Amino acid sequence: MTEKRVNTVRLQRIAKAYWETGALFAAIDLDVFTHIDGGANTVPSLGAAVKIGDLNAERLLDALAGLELVTRSPDGVYANAADVERFLVQGKRGYAGAWMTFMREKWGDWGRLSEVLLSQETEPLGMYDDLTVESARTYHKATYSIGMGAARKFHREVDLTGRKRIMDLGGGSGAYCIVGAQTWPGLEAVVLDLPPVVTVAREFIAENGMSDRVTAEPCDFTKGPFPAGCDVAIQASNLPIYDRATWLHVVAMVFDALEPGGEYHLIGETLNDDRMGPIAPSLWGLYEAIPRSIGHAHTNAECVGYLEAAGFRDITVTEFIPETLTRISGRKPG
Ligand SMILES: C[S@@+](CC[C@H](N)C(=O)[O-])C[C@H]1O[C@@H](n2cnc3c(N)ncnc32)[C@H](O)[C@@H]1O
Repeated sequence: MTEKRVNTVRLQRIAKAYWETGALFAAIDLDVFTHIDGGANTVPSLGAAVKIGDLNAERLLDALAGLELVTRSPDGVYANAADVERFLVQGKRGYAGAWMTFMREKWGDWGRLSEVLLSQETEPLGMYDDLTVESARTYHKATYSIGMGAARKFHREVDLTGRKRIMDLGGGSGAYCIVGAQTWPGLEAVVLDLPPVVTVAREFIAENGMSDRVTAEPCDFTKGPFPAGCDVAIQASNLPIYDRATWLHVVAMVFDALEPGGEYHLIGETLNDDRMGPIAPSLWGLYEAIPRSIGHAHTNAECVGYLEAAGFRDITVTEFIPETLTRISGRKPG
């Protein structure tokens, strides 16, 4: 039996994966997908619409077709792929261009990641150490563009009938609280986040007309204290920012603050228990070296352990966004 010969195809794709990012960012910057949706869907019409000419339009469309972001008919008419049509066409409710490009400023850091890893420096709040209202506004314009869809999905899947008050730890734009109050009659909610983010969360809450039932308050969730009177706690998309000891401490504080019978939903970028992927959560963990946080990726089993150690019961692990986010939920005995 001869062993199957390996080749360099996979390694070459990974080595040049940043070319794929470059093609996607150029298409977003030039609003290519919006123009295709609007009818500029051939090489010459797109080249004219986005002012890059025929030669560059052909180059870019070939790459986007190779990436399966667009399809091409035999007569040279291009169409957006289904996910592109939903999330990358300006003016559509799902438009998430801000989220797709919000890590662009870190591009250079990924190119010198070995230096970053060798420095082994850490700062307690990582990228949130030098947050300003202005940078928080830019950041959460991006999280809001993807977070409202995630929040709608959460409130479709989790029944909060009869619940009184949510606390959302590291709630960012307030998406989960805003949609919660819109979905569940009478439900109130408080977004807890760092002071510059609170200013921005209040803007999103007001923009959605929910200021009567949703508030935002400054709180470092690694320190507390957390508000009393909440029977739901949500914590979404901040798992890799902190280490195991911090999570054990945070989840224990959540348990203490929740009303008896209350529920906690940790929605995190979790690894499989064998730490063999998925790739997105593993890269979020690696990313944390760049802002020099103390964080890393956590497995589903580790998260279940944080809830168990705090005293939560009826713990469940539910896929939320495939290969990206998992919901670990538990109940405080009532
Ligand atoms: C990726 S955003 C997620 C926002 C929101 N949960 C969502 O899913 O749309 C992470 C959030 O965690 C917040 N955060 C990180 N560390 C925090 C801490 N120690 N205390 C309070 N908020 C924190 C950040 O300010 C940021 O708003």
